[in-house]
Amino acid sequence: MAESRKPIPFSPPDITEAEIEAVADALRSGWITTGPRTKELERRLCAFTGADGFVCLNSATAALECALRLLGVGPGDEVITSAYTYTASASPIHHVGAKIVLVDTAPGSYEMDYMALSDAITERTKAVIPVDIAGRMCDYNQLRSMLQLNRAKWRPETDVQRCFDRVPIVADAAHALGATWHDMKCGSVADFTTFSFHAVKNFTTAEGGGLAWRLPRAAADPMAWNAPATPAVTSEELYRRVMLLSLHGQSKDALAKAKAGAWEYDIEFLGWKYNMTDIMAAIGGVQLDRYPALLARRRQLIERYERGLADLPVTTLEHYGRWGASSGHLMLVRLDGREEAFRNRVIELMAEAGVSTNVHYKPLPMMTAYRKLGFDIKDYPNAYKQFRNEITLPLHTLLSDEDVDRVVAELARAMEQAEAEGLGAATGESAAEARLQAYIKRMDETGGWSGDAAPRAFAVGDEEQPVSPEDIAREMEDR
Ligand SMILES: Cc1ncc(COP(=O)(O)O)c(C=O)c1O
Repeated sequence: MAESRKPIPFSPPDITEAEIEAVADALRSGWITTGPRTKELERRLCAFTGADGFVCLNSATAALECALRLLGVGPGDEVITSAYTYTASASPIHHVGAKIVLVDTAPGSYEMDYMALSDAITERTKAVIPVDIAGRMCDYNQLRSMLQLNRAKWRPETDVQRCFDRVPIVADAAHALGATWHDMKCGSVADFTTFSFHAVKNFTTAEGGGLAWRLPRAAADPMAWNAPATPAVTSEELYRRVMLLSLHGQSKDALAKAKAGAWEYDIEFLGWKYNMTDIMAAIGGVQLDRYPALLARRRQLIERYERGLADLPVTTLEHYGRWGASSGHLMLVRLDGREEAFRNRVIELMAEAGVSTNVHYKPLPMMTAYRKLGFDIKDYPNAYKQFRNEITLPLHTLLSDEDVDRVVAELARAMEQAEAEGLGAATGESAAEARLQAYIKRMDETGGWSGDAAPRAFAVGDEEQPVSPEDIAREMEDR
């Protein structure tokens, strides 16, 4: 096969001899289940994320379930998450016996519509699970404002719930270890943050995950991010409870029991089995040493993609901005104004050319299990629009610069071919509308609506007059 035709995989793990050595050392050490390497990784990840506490577990799914169980969420309760995510954001809600409530995305966005979230909050709501999709953290200011606005509906029932004066946030940051938002690290923003270290993630322990928490802050100024932690439930107590939840409710873990004569333990309740092993933690330790360089390389690759894609009729997710930096996990691209048939053909053509791509995500209401629960995609029009023309390009640290250029070239070729096959008819959402949505979002995020940057149609004091999306898109292009 010619060099240029070598397959480009979607997301292979980046494992070096150093990880292999570390695993061999763990195996030789005689301690292969949860032990000193796991505890050391927890300590380092706690420092890395700036969290108040951190536990390593066997997956992000387990971490989400543990967070909900820590909060005491169960039958009769409701938990809200996004319709635009992987099933693992929602299934733990069902597994703890609560009701899954899905909200649509905001128009032209991968994030939950925070107004729709506000409408979905009831007196039964016990948590909200925002999704830091592609490694980009959500707008936690908007999210917290909505939860503050709905404080009157908050009905805390357990001691952990009573630590909060509003519905707590359990972030699904499966993609977002290493991300920052307004100078804060992912793990130190939401009340609870769950991470995935699965094989395709940008930091891996083969399988694995983590649960971080940020203790409730003093109520005097609940919106101040830097307020001191209140001592109502200590980090030590939360840690102790996660240890129990994740290991059968057993009062001593294997390491504690291994001490001479310390065999006896109690089972405090019928717990679960979610612990990380030291073999996994050995991989994680080396990945963490390498992580700053891995994040920097992801940034270079994304910036190269951005330059290459600039002339194509596509919209990419912004990974770096005044708001902070994502972990650069996924290269999400929308084919402006196209339908599913066009996007699917592009995926096929790229696969034929040796380039693996993906879709993140087919909204949950389109999946059989969620349809059986009564969800209908018709109630999630924005999520559907976001999905129908989304394609995720390969993004991983084994890619060379030339690989990125080839992916861009193959995407351009595939789009041209799909167009030639007659699949390119414009949809209800025109390219102008898509560009407009991206522009509005950018202006909102950068606070750029004031002064010279404000488009005429939105200028303060302007007479209200009908302006079409095409007018505004044209105006934007003139700038
Ligand atoms: C958004 C999201 N949440 C949760 C998960 C679950 O992660 P894990 O496989 O570690 O349980 C994934 C995994 O792909 C994910 O993409």
